[in-house]
Amino acid sequence: MTDSALHQPHISSTAPRYWALIPCAGSGARAGADGPKQYQALAGRPLVAHTLAAFAATPGLAGILVVVAPGDTTLEAQGLAEAVHVADCGGASRAASVSAGLAVLHTLGALPQDWVLVHDAARCLITPAQIQRLMAACADDAVGGLLAQPLADTLKVGAEGRVSATLERGDKWLAQTPQMFRLAPLQRALQASGPTVTDEASAIEAQGQRPRLVAPEGANFKVTYPDDFALAEAVLKARLASTPATEAV
Ligand code: C5P
Repeated sequence: MTDSALHQPHISSTAPRYWALIPCAGSGARAGADGPKQYQALAGRPLVAHTLAAFAATPGLAGILVVVAPGDTTLEAQGLAEAVHVADCGGASRAASVSAGLAVLHTLGALPQDWVLVHDAARCLITPAQIQRLMAACADDAVGGLLAQPLADTLKVGAEGRVSATLERGDKWLAQTPQMFRLAPLQRALQASGPTVTDEASAIEAQGQRPRLVAPEGANFKVTYPDDFALAEAVLKARLASTPATEAV
Protein backbone atom coordinates (compact mmCIF):
# COMPACT_ATOMS: atom_id res chain seq x y z
CA MET A 1 0.00 0.00 0.00
CA THR A 2 1.34 3.44 -0.93
CA ASP A 3 1.54 6.35 1.51
CA SER A 4 -1.29 8.19 -0.23
CA ALA A 5 -3.51 5.09 -0.06
CA LEU A 6 -2.79 4.87 3.66
CA HIS A 7 -4.11 8.36 4.20
CA GLN A 8 -7.35 7.89 2.23
CA PRO A 9 -10.44 7.56 4.42
CA HIS A 10 -12.07 4.16 4.07
CA ILE A 11 -15.10 4.63 1.82
CA SER A 12 -17.06 1.51 1.01
CA SER A 13 -18.59 1.21 -2.44
CA THR A 14 -21.60 -0.66 -1.02
CA ALA A 15 -24.91 1.21 -0.69
CA PRO A 16 -25.65 2.32 2.88
CA ARG A 17 -27.90 0.00 4.86
CA TYR A 18 -30.60 0.93 7.35
CA TRP A 19 -30.53 -0.18 10.99
CA ALA A 20 -33.10 0.39 13.71
CA LEU A 21 -31.87 1.17 17.23
CA ILE A 22 -34.55 1.12 19.91
CA PRO A 23 -33.60 2.52 23.35
CA CYS A 24 -35.69 0.53 25.85
CA ALA A 25 -33.76 1.04 29.07
CA GLY A 26 -35.76 3.79 30.77
CA SER A 27 -37.58 3.46 34.07
CA GLY A 28 -40.62 5.40 32.81
CA ALA A 29 -41.12 7.09 36.17
CA ARG A 30 -43.59 9.69 34.76
CA ALA A 31 -45.96 6.92 33.63
CA GLY A 32 -46.72 6.07 37.26
CA ALA A 33 -46.79 2.35 36.40
CA ASP A 34 -45.53 -0.57 38.43
CA GLY A 35 -42.27 -1.22 36.57
CA PRO A 36 -40.87 0.20 33.30
CA LYS A 37 -43.67 1.55 31.07
CA GLN A 38 -42.35 -0.22 27.97
CA TYR A 39 -43.35 -3.56 29.49
CA GLN A 40 -46.84 -2.55 30.69
CA ALA A 41 -49.72 -4.34 28.96
CA LEU A 42 -51.35 -2.36 26.18
CA ALA A 43 -54.03 -3.85 23.92
CA GLY A 44 -53.15 -7.32 25.20
CA ARG A 45 -49.36 -7.19 24.71
CA PRO A 46 -46.39 -5.49 26.36
CA LEU A 47 -46.22 -1.91 25.03
CA VAL A 48 -42.84 -2.48 23.36
CA ALA A 49 -44.22 -5.49 21.44
CA HIS A 50 -46.23 -3.07 19.26
CA THR A 51 -43.11 -1.00 18.59
CA LEU A 52 -41.07 -4.07 17.65
CA ALA A 53 -43.83 -5.46 15.43
CA ALA A 54 -43.86 -2.24 13.37
CA PHE A 55 -40.10 -2.41 12.77
CA ALA A 56 -40.18 -6.17 12.06
CA ALA A 57 -42.81 -5.47 9.38
CA THR A 58 -40.76 -2.70 7.73
CA PRO A 59 -38.95 -3.85 4.59
CA GLY A 60 -35.36 -2.75 3.98
CA LEU A 61 -33.92 -2.88 7.50
CA ALA A 62 -30.58 -4.71 7.88
CA GLY A 63 -31.24 -5.32 11.57
CA ILE A 64 -33.09 -4.14 14.67
CA LEU A 65 -31.17 -3.60 17.92
CA VAL A 66 -33.00 -3.08 21.21
CA VAL A 67 -30.99 -1.57 24.07
CA VAL A 68 -32.27 -2.67 27.49
CA ALA A 69 -31.04 -2.03 31.02
CA PRO A 70 -28.18 -4.18 32.35
CA GLY A 71 -29.49 -7.60 33.38
CA ASP A 72 -32.97 -7.00 31.89
CA THR A 73 -34.15 -10.27 30.29
CA THR A 74 -37.83 -9.30 29.85
CA LEU A 75 -37.79 -9.40 26.04
CA GLU A 76 -36.38 -12.93 25.99
CA ALA A 77 -38.79 -14.05 28.73
CA GLN A 78 -41.78 -12.64 26.81
CA GLY A 79 -40.71 -14.24 23.51
CA LEU A 80 -40.09 -10.80 21.96
CA ALA A 81 -36.40 -11.24 21.14
CA GLU A 82 -36.71 -13.54 18.14
CA ALA A 83 -36.62 -11.00 15.30
CA VAL A 84 -34.31 -8.52 17.02
CA HIS A 85 -30.86 -8.22 18.58
CA VAL A 86 -30.94 -7.34 22.28
CA ALA A 87 -28.04 -5.66 24.13
CA ASP A 88 -28.28 -5.02 27.86
CA CYS A 89 -25.97 -2.01 27.68
CA GLY A 90 -28.50 0.72 28.58
CA GLY A 91 -27.11 3.76 30.37
CA ALA A 92 -28.26 6.34 32.90
CA SER A 93 -29.78 8.60 30.21
CA ARG A 94 -31.45 8.04 26.84
CA ALA A 95 -28.40 9.48 25.07
CA ALA A 96 -26.11 7.09 26.98
CA SER A 97 -28.30 4.14 25.95
CA VAL A 98 -28.25 5.25 22.30
CA SER A 99 -24.48 5.76 22.32
CA ALA A 100 -23.95 2.29 23.80
CA GLY A 101 -26.26 0.86 21.13
CA LEU A 102 -24.35 2.57 18.31
CA ALA A 103 -21.17 0.86 19.50
CA VAL A 104 -22.97 -2.51 19.40
CA LEU A 105 -24.19 -1.84 15.84
CA HIS A 106 -20.55 -1.88 14.68
CA THR A 107 -20.18 -5.40 16.11
CA LEU A 108 -23.27 -6.45 14.11
CA GLY A 109 -21.59 -5.33 10.90
CA ALA A 110 -22.89 -1.78 10.51
CA LEU A 111 -20.59 0.53 8.58
CA PRO A 112 -19.86 4.21 9.39
CA GLN A 113 -21.98 5.49 6.49
CA ASP A 114 -25.00 3.26 7.26
CA TRP A 115 -28.23 4.95 8.32
CA VAL A 116 -29.46 4.42 11.87
CA LEU A 117 -33.12 4.99 12.77
CA VAL A 118 -33.28 5.66 16.52
CA HIS A 119 -36.78 5.10 17.90
CA ASP A 120 -38.17 5.32 21.43
CA ALA A 121 -39.53 1.96 22.61
CA ALA A 122 -42.31 3.94 24.28
CA ARG A 123 -43.54 5.38 20.97
CA CYS A 124 -45.61 2.28 20.25
CA LEU A 125 -48.01 3.76 17.67
CA ILE A 126 -45.33 3.91 14.98
CA THR A 127 -46.33 2.13 11.76
CA PRO A 128 -44.24 0.60 8.94
CA ALA A 129 -45.69 3.27 6.63
CA GLN A 130 -44.43 6.09 8.89
CA ILE A 131 -40.98 4.48 9.13
CA GLN A 132 -40.79 4.10 5.35
CA ARG A 133 -41.95 7.68 4.90
CA LEU A 134 -38.95 8.90 6.90
CA MET A 135 -36.55 6.52 5.10
CA ALA A 136 -37.74 7.72 1.70
CA ALA A 137 -37.62 11.39 2.65
CA CYS A 138 -34.05 11.19 4.00
CA ALA A 139 -32.42 8.56 1.78
CA ASP A 140 -30.78 11.21 -0.44
CA ASP A 141 -30.39 13.84 2.29
CA ALA A 142 -26.89 14.95 3.26
CA VAL A 143 -27.83 15.23 6.96
CA GLY A 144 -30.80 12.97 7.77
CA GLY A 145 -33.97 13.86 9.61
CA LEU A 146 -36.77 13.00 11.99
CA LEU A 147 -40.48 12.52 12.20
CA ALA A 148 -42.01 15.64 13.73
CA GLN A 149 -45.48 17.11 14.13
CA PRO A 150 -46.26 20.73 13.30
CA LEU A 151 -47.50 22.35 16.52
CA ALA A 152 -51.31 22.67 16.73
CA ASP A 153 -51.64 24.46 20.07
CA THR A 154 -50.59 27.97 21.03
CA LEU A 155 -47.25 27.87 22.79
CA LYS A 156 -46.77 29.67 26.12
CA VAL A 157 -43.66 30.31 28.16
CA GLY A 158 -44.33 29.86 31.87
CA ALA A 159 -42.70 31.42 34.91
CA GLU A 160 -43.85 30.70 38.46
CA GLY A 161 -47.16 29.31 37.24
CA ARG A 162 -48.05 32.31 35.03
CA VAL A 163 -47.63 33.04 31.34
CA SER A 164 -44.57 35.15 30.70
CA ALA A 165 -44.73 35.05 26.89
CA THR A 166 -46.60 33.59 23.91
CA LEU A 167 -44.45 32.22 21.11
CA GLU A 168 -45.24 32.31 17.40
CA ARG A 169 -46.25 28.71 16.61
CA GLY A 170 -46.05 28.79 12.81
CA ASP A 171 -42.49 27.49 12.70
CA LYS A 172 -42.66 25.11 15.71
CA TRP A 173 -42.59 21.32 15.48
CA LEU A 174 -42.81 18.60 18.13
CA ALA A 175 -39.87 16.25 17.67
CA GLN A 176 -40.75 12.57 17.50
CA THR A 177 -38.87 9.43 16.49
CA PRO A 178 -37.55 7.66 14.45
CA GLN A 179 -34.65 10.04 13.98
CA MET A 180 -32.44 8.93 11.11
CA PHE A 181 -28.77 9.82 10.81
CA ARG A 182 -25.61 8.15 9.53
CA LEU A 183 -23.82 6.03 12.12
CA ALA A 184 -20.41 7.76 12.32
CA PRO A 185 -21.63 11.40 12.35
CA LEU A 186 -24.29 10.47 14.91
CA GLN A 187 -21.73 8.83 17.19
CA ARG A 188 -19.47 11.89 16.95
CA ALA A 189 -22.38 14.27 17.61
CA LEU A 190 -23.63 12.37 20.67
CA GLN A 191 -20.12 12.15 22.07
CA ALA A 192 -19.71 15.91 21.70
CA SER A 193 -23.14 16.72 23.19
CA GLY A 194 -22.85 14.49 26.25
CA PRO A 195 -25.44 12.41 28.12
CA THR A 196 -28.10 15.08 28.73
CA VAL A 197 -29.21 15.67 25.13
CA THR A 198 -32.81 14.41 24.75
CA ASP A 199 -32.79 13.52 21.07
CA GLU A 200 -30.35 12.73 18.27
CA ALA A 201 -31.38 15.74 16.17
CA SER A 202 -30.27 18.16 18.92
CA ALA A 203 -26.81 16.59 18.90
CA ILE A 204 -26.62 16.85 15.09
CA GLU A 205 -27.88 20.47 15.23
CA ALA A 206 -25.12 21.30 17.71
CA GLN A 207 -22.70 20.27 14.95
CA GLY A 208 -24.16 23.00 12.72
CA GLN A 209 -26.40 20.69 10.66
CA ARG A 210 -30.11 21.14 9.92
CA PRO A 211 -32.01 17.83 10.05
CA ARG A 212 -35.00 17.39 7.72
CA LEU A 213 -38.48 17.53 9.32
CA VAL A 214 -40.93 14.88 8.11
CA ALA A 215 -44.59 14.85 9.27
CA PRO A 216 -45.67 11.37 10.43
CA GLU A 217 -49.25 11.48 9.04
CA GLY A 218 -51.00 9.70 11.90
CA ALA A 219 -50.57 9.40 15.65
CA ASN A 220 -47.04 8.72 16.87
CA PHE A 221 -47.05 10.11 20.41
CA LYS A 222 -44.84 8.76 23.18
CA VAL A 223 -46.55 7.00 26.06
CA THR A 224 -45.34 9.13 28.95
CA TYR A 225 -48.14 9.90 31.45
CA PRO A 226 -50.74 7.52 32.99
CA ASP A 227 -53.56 8.73 30.66
CA ASP A 228 -51.44 7.99 27.57
CA PHE A 229 -51.88 4.22 27.96
CA ALA A 230 -55.65 4.34 27.39
CA LEU A 231 -55.25 6.79 24.50
CA ALA A 232 -52.61 4.63 22.78
CA GLU A 233 -54.75 1.54 23.29
CA ALA A 234 -57.74 3.28 21.71
CA VAL A 235 -55.65 4.26 18.66
CA LEU A 236 -54.29 0.73 18.24
CA LYS A 237 -57.76 -0.81 18.56
CA ALA A 238 -59.24 1.65 16.07
CA ARG A 239 -56.47 0.85 13.59
CA LEU A 240 -56.98 -2.90 14.01
CA ALA A 241 -60.71 -2.48 13.48
CA SER A 242 -60.14 -0.64 10.21
CA THR A 243 -57.33 -2.92 8.91
CA PRO A 244 -57.93 -6.25 7.13
CA ALA A 245 -56.60 -9.09 9.32
CA THR A 246 -53.81 -9.90 6.83
CA GLU A 247 -52.33 -6.39 7.11
CA ALA A 248 -52.52 -5.91 10.89
CA VAL A 249 -49.19 -5.96 12.74
O1 C5P B 1 -38.07 8.66 29.38
P1 C5P B 1 -38.40 8.90 27.95
O2 C5P B 1 -39.84 8.56 27.64
O3 C5P B 1 -37.98 10.20 27.40
O4 C5P B 1 -37.54 7.81 27.17
C1 C5P B 1 -37.57 7.70 25.76
C2 C5P B 1 -37.04 6.32 25.37
O5 C5P B 1 -35.68 6.20 25.78
C3 C5P B 1 -37.82 5.19 26.04
O6 C5P B 1 -38.08 4.17 25.09
C4 C5P B 1 -36.88 4.73 27.14
O7 C5P B 1 -37.00 3.34 27.44
C5 C5P B 1 -35.51 5.03 26.56
N1 C5P B 1 -34.49 5.28 27.58
C6 C5P B 1 -33.34 4.49 27.61
N2 C5P B 1 -32.39 4.68 28.58
C7 C5P B 1 -32.56 5.62 29.53
C8 C5P B 1 -33.72 6.45 29.52
C9 C5P B 1 -34.67 6.27 28.52
O8 C5P B 1 -33.17 3.61 26.76
N3 C5P B 1 -31.65 5.74 30.50
